[in-house]
Amino acid sequence: MDILAVCRLAPVIPVLVVEDVSVAAPLAKALAAGGLKALEVTLRTPAALDVIRAMIDAAPDAVVGAGTLRTPQDVKNAHAAGARFGVSPGLSAKLLDTADEVGLPMLPGVATPSEAMAAAERGLSVLKFFPAEANGGAPALKAWASPLKGLLFCPTGGVSKANALDYLSLPNVVCVGGSWVAPGDKLAAGDWDGITALAAEAAQLKAA
Ligand code: 3PG
Repeated sequence: MDILAVCRLAPVIPVLVVEDVSVAAPLAKALAAGGLKALEVTLRTPAALDVIRAMIDAAPDAVVGAGTLRTPQDVKNAHAAGARFGVSPGLSAKLLDTADEVGLPMLPGVATPSEAMAAAERGLSVLKFFPAEANGGAPALKAWASPLKGLLFCPTGGVSKANALDYLSLPNVVCVGGSWVAPGDKLAAGDWDGITALAAEAAQLKAA
C-alpha cells in the first residue's frame, strides 16, 4: 500500500502517543471499530515499538504506521516492528534514503514551499503539512494549491474536530492527522467506547 492509499483509508489519521503497551490492543480495536484504519504510533515513548507490534496483532484490519521518525535508525526500527508507513516531522535525505532501502512508504513533514519542492524532486507527492495551525493553517495550504499543483497534503498539528473540515475541503488535502480522537483522559480511563465514538465522528468528516 503506497502512502496515498494509506491517506485515503479515512479522513483522519489518529496521532497516538502511547506510554503503556497494555492499552495498545484495545485502543487499536476502538479506533478501527470507529472506521479509522490508518493509525500513527509516534516513537515518543519507550513502549512505542511494542505498541506497534501489539496493535498489528490486535487489529489486523488497521494499517499501523510509525510517527516522529527522526533518524535512519528510527526508520529501521519502525520497519522491523512491522510499521506499514512512516511519518516524520520533517524532510531529511538520510531518512528518505533509509526508507527507500527498507521499502517503508513515507509521509515526511514540510512547512514551506521550498521543502515541498525538495520533496517533489525526490518523487514524493503526498506530504504532511506540519505544524499546520502554527504555519498559517488552512489559508496557508489553500494558497499553496495553485502554485504547488499536483502535491497533496496531510495537515497535522493543531488540527481538531473544530477545524478539520476547513482543511478537508481544500483540493490539495487528502486527509488530516490529529491526536484529538484518542485523548489522554479517555486513554487513562480505558474509555474505549468513547474513543470509538470519537473515531466514528472523525471517520464521517467529509468536505461539503
Ligand atoms: C503532534 O505533533 O503530536 C501531532 O502533530 C499531532 O498534533 P495535535 O496533538 O495538535 O493533533
